[in-house]
Amino acid sequence: MWSKRLYLTIVASFFLHADARSHVPRPHHYARSLHARDYVTESTVGDSYDFIIAGGGLAGLVIASRLSEDPDTTVLVLEAGESGDAEKDSIDPPAGTYYNSLVGTSYDWQHRTTEQDKAGGRSLPWPRGKVLGGSTAINGMYYVRPSEIEVEAWKGMLDSNADAATWGWDNLLKAMKKSETFTPPTSDVQTTAKIQFEASSYGTNGPLHVTYPGFMYSVVGDWTPSLEAAGIGSAADPAGGKNFGGFVSTLSINPGNWTRSYSKSAYIDPLPPRKNLHILVSATVTRIVFGDKNTAGDHVASGVEFATSASGAKKVVKVNKEVIVTGGALGSPNVLMHSGVGPKDVLDAAGVPVVVDLPGVGQHLQDHLAAPVVWESKVETAGDIQTSGSDFSKQPATMSFVNSAIAYINASTLFGDSAELERRVAAALDSSVQTVPSKSNEVIEGYKAIYGASQKFLTQAVGQIELLLSINSPKAITIQAALQHPFSQGRVYIDSKSAFDPIVIDPQYFSHPADLAIMREGIKLARRIGQTEPMRSALGAETFPGPDVSTDGQIEDWLQGAVSTEFHPQATCSMLPKSLGGVVNAKLQVYGLANVRVADSSVFPLSFSAHLAAPTFGLAEEAADILKAFYKAPEPTNSDSFDPPSSPSETDEPDNNGASAILASSGTLVTMALAGMVTTAMASLFY
Ligand SMILES: Cc1cc2nc3c(=O)[nH]c(=O)nc-3n(C[C@H](O)[C@H](O)[C@H](O)COP(=O)(O)OP(=O)(O)OC[C@H]3O[C@@H](n4cnc5c(N)ncnc54)[C@H](O)[C@@H]3O)c2cc1C
Ligand SMILES: *[C@@H]1O[C@H](CO)[C@@H](O)[C@H](O)[C@H]1NC(C)=O
Ligand SMILES: *[C@@H]1O[C@H](CO)[C@@H](O)[C@H](O)[C@H]1NC(C)=O
Repeated sequence: MWSKRLYLTIVASFFLHADARSHVPRPHHYARSLHARDYVTESTVGDSYDFIIAGGGLAGLVIASRLSEDPDTTVLVLEAGESGDAEKDSIDPPAGTYYNSLVGTSYDWQHRTTEQDKAGGRSLPWPRGKVLGGSTAINGMYYVRPSEIEVEAWKGMLDSNADAATWGWDNLLKAMKKSETFTPPTSDVQTTAKIQFEASSYGTNGPLHVTYPGFMYSVVGDWTPSLEAAGIGSAADPAGGKNFGGFVSTLSINPGNWTRSYSKSAYIDPLPPRKNLHILVSATVTRIVFGDKNTAGDHVASGVEFATSASGAKKVVKVNKEVIVTGGALGSPNVLMHSGVGPKDVLDAAGVPVVVDLPGVGQHLQDHLAAPVVWESKVETAGDIQTSGSDFSKQPATMSFVNSAIAYINASTLFGDSAELERRVAAALDSSVQTVPSKSNEVIEGYKAIYGASQKFLTQAVGQIELLLSINSPKAITIQAALQHPFSQGRVYIDSKSAFDPIVIDPQYFSHPADLAIMREGIKLARRIGQTEPMRSALGAETFPGPDVSTDGQIEDWLQGAVSTEFHPQATCSMLPKSLGGVVNAKLQVYGLANVRVADSSVFPLSFSAHLAAPTFGLAEEAADILKAFYKAPEPTNSDSFDPPSSPSETDEPDNNGASAILASSGTLVTMALAGMVTTAMASLFY
């Protein structure tokens, strides 16, 4: 029923089968362990809701929580996975993300890419959370914001009408702050890790907890001094729009009890009883159902169809106002395509009737790629403490340690002459356009627009490579390098009529040669940092990839077989003008549809130097505000097409407020030594 975990543990898990009964009155108590008042079962779900949220992940739960603040607004969340309440032991302790991971279990979609020609012909695993909280229930909890330059570049790609103003840095910052409560580190932790932060850049009153671990290792304190000794300055206020340089990042952890803070524990569990918010788990959205077109010619969604299994009966819940698609970078394009909204050639081949031919759905896929350099450790690591099994290792504060030392490195540090790199990237546009996996002119124009915006970052204070310090393995220390602005763009698409079949993922890794060159220089820089004091003294021999991988050519060959996802796919339902292969406008509305929006990590059109959770929390807060404003305003012109709002058909008293919290997972890494200095020879660019 589920496959092996990636890392150290086997978890007892469960899989509930809700049977397919037709609507019956809601019972007074639930048979399932889903004690929280918001959960409904397939037989107690209402006939209609004002908003139906397709996907109870990061963004879906934020939006559900915010929209249901108005007691007169009814909200249903449909989530394909389980609640996660049975896996709190994995989800809640932050270090559970390494040592008790849900990756590889039934709480992970366990996607894989197609075989990647330029990455050793490998089919790479792409974990995604399949549980309430989505990927925030299994992620690494890095809570890192993008830079102001990047967020403004995204805004610059939108139609310059009033709506685009929603998405500048100032607004996203405000929205990210709204989502957070920041707690500074203890003075011990701050001193040990040499943490710098600017508290005023964080929120004080939001649902999500953002802080630092309760226990710190001395080698983390070697991070920023080693970077500084190598000429890379520290970021004093990385959350304030200048994330460039080295720093120790915040994490989404609740310092009150050292548990993971994620969209479920932050936005749902602490809520008082809310009759107007229903959550149905084990419910896979199979399609959006459309009624007539409105006077503007846009299709009006009348409901959402779901099923509890591929062979199970399908059921439709009616929607009074809007469907919000929040299935994530893979789930959202999947839902749209199975609803007949997507590229006509893809839908025709899959046998799905076309509702709207929208070529951008699934396109522009960008992902961060990562590879590790691993050394033997001369100092105690978190992995050593964990394997000791001591009482100390089990303390909540000890278990709150997760990796957080990070750096964003610009192109001139990597290549010396970043202007020359930019010229070469510009010159490569014509040939790289041939790699766009679409014949649509709109998608091709979008590729060029994203390319052009990313190209500008090469000469700006923007991270091209992220370095991460990982100490969660025993006897080993890893510095990972990760590509932040891929010029390679791929796509996701469907090849079947069943929404239960996996979406096909083709990121086209390294289809643009600059990506491999940037990664190569990132690996060389990781090695150089490992050779710089004080880090050097903490490290023994490089064990991976080791001294046999030293020339540029050897590094590139090795990288193709060694890279893996950094878990940040995005842009598959890009917020761009339709003429650029966009899927949603600046109000998150899907082109051609009257009352369907996408609001999750799939809409960022441009890759950021960041991990995606923080900007997605901001985006989801912003989405809720957009929806609230929209429905407070005079009724939309297409409102005649909607049924009048009605409440879910339940009259019981709300159940007791159930509180709960959550779990975790993520990757570990890797190895080496070579006295590699960063070379700046232009010959080792690409071409
Ligand atoms: C292993 C791992 C480690 C990561 N580490 C970090 C990190 O340290 N820091 C960071 O910032 N980011 C990290 N990320 C990325 C981050 O968690 C995601 O970018 C973020 O959660 C995306 O939010 P989302 O709302 O777009 O999608 P998700 O949070 O993935 O939510 C999508 C939800 O939709 C549901 N769904 C999908 N299809 C359907 C359907 N048809 N019907 C019903 N429900 C459906 C899914 O089950 C899921 O619950 C990591 C991700 C992974 C997988
Ligand atoms: C790139 O990084 C280096 C090292 O931190 C810094 O000195 C330089 O000013 C940066 N360049 C830009 C354009 O930000
Ligand atoms: C941690 O504290 C939060 C409240 O701050 C609570 O909702 C949650 O249930 C707690 N988790 C555990 C495991 O105690």
